[in-house]
Amino acid sequence: MPSNALTVIHKFIRRELFDFAERLFRAEPQDCSAISQALEDVTALLFQHAAMEETRLHPMLADADRTLADHLLHDHHRLHDDLERLRAAASTLTANEVDCTERLLQLHLDWNRFLAAYLAHLDEEERSLFAPSLISFLPSLPGLRPCAVSLRVAPSCCACGP
Ligand SMILES: [Fe+2]
Repeated sequence: MPSNALTVIHKFIRRELFDFAERLFRAEPQDCSAISQALEDVTALLFQHAAMEETRLHPMLADADRTLADHLLHDHHRLHDDLERLRAAASTLTANEVDCTERLLQLHLDWNRFLAAYLAHLDEEERSLFAPSLISFLPSLPGLRPCAVSLRVAPSCCACGP
């Protein structure tokens, strides 16, 4: 598949989502605070990416197709709310809880459900919302630097940033 700046960014986002899923799968009660922090990091990435799409791509999408643009925002809001629920659950994890293992399992299940929804969102963006046929009508995507996407290395120079 021919890639563009957006699909390259999505590729790195997918990796971050799966990395966190694996980390959560392997987590023990003593990892609770690290899990909570890792979820904060992934959340920051996803919020930053959504903000970038809404600031830079949504206006152009709205000019091309208002219905698709509204759908994009609706999806972003839904996923935002799901993430906030996950953050709230993770923020109260502590290694000392009697039921910590059970709560980690619940977070693991809930994260994988969110992951499935987020992957479907990325797929829809690539197939229809920001499809090559639509992107070709749009101006170039200034500021998207896919070579700098890996937030693990340098969040400040991420393509999702200002
Ligand atoms: Fe999006």
